[in-house]
Amino acid sequence: MAELIVALDVPGRKEAEEKIKAIGPDVSFYKIGLELFIAAGPDVVRAVKGLGKKVFLDLKLHDIPRTVERAVKSAGALGADLLTIHSVGGPAMIKAAAEAAAEFGASAPKILAVTVLTSLDAADLKDVGIARSPEDQVRAAASLAVSSGADGLVCSPREVGALAKNLRRGTLLVTPGVRPAGAAVGDQKRIATPGDAVRDGSTHLVVGRPILAAPDPAAAAAAILAEMRAAGTL
Ligand code: C5P
Repeated sequence: MAELIVALDVPGRKEAEEKIKAIGPDVSFYKIGLELFIAAGPDVVRAVKGLGKKVFLDLKLHDIPRTVERAVKSAGALGADLLTIHSVGGPAMIKAAAEAAAEFGASAPKILAVTVLTSLDAADLKDVGIARSPEDQVRAAASLAVSSGADGLVCSPREVGALAKNLRRGTLLVTPGVRPAGAAVGDQKRIATPGDAVRDGSTHLVVGRPILAAPDPAAAAAAILAEMRAAGTL
């Protein structure tokens, strides 16, 4: 069964705790990204874990292998359950991250690789020296990441179907850009409904504004979870 992760895109720990309280017991997984982590630091991870929730630490690490290895160890010690790295860091960096995570045994953070940022198009890739199309680069980066030891990938709803078919079973496919029918799209361009994302093979859906900005966040989360469950049991 796919899991719902709510993106805590809020400026501080107080707001994060208020949102978690408003969303209630149905949601057990939260994403902490750069905005909140830089503002509130590791204490916010401890606070969310202290509420009995799982944490997706979305810091998109990209550095030399030794630095990433040590950062993964710090994240593991904090109790992060999922952690992102950039696949363009290369195979040695990905392997170093996977090996550092494995030292935590059963509670090891799962390493997710970002393939191509969804904000980049073909012209942007060319500017940084990548001649492949974004689609080909996603495929190449995905197979490099998984063969180097990553547990899964962050991918757009548009990519998830093809990746699910081509990667070994058990690879985590974590999908943002999810919008229930009728929800505001905001700045997302490549969107899918929760049901479609689950049917296409997403193992985790990341949803922010449709829950955080809803008048009743608990009800918004419950509706998304119901749609995920229905799609998962078809
Ligand atoms: O509010 P919304 O549901 O659009 O939030 C989606 C979350 O997923 C945000 O935290 C955003 O940074 C993240 N994300 C994304 N697209 C990507 C990677 C991450 O929307 N390609």
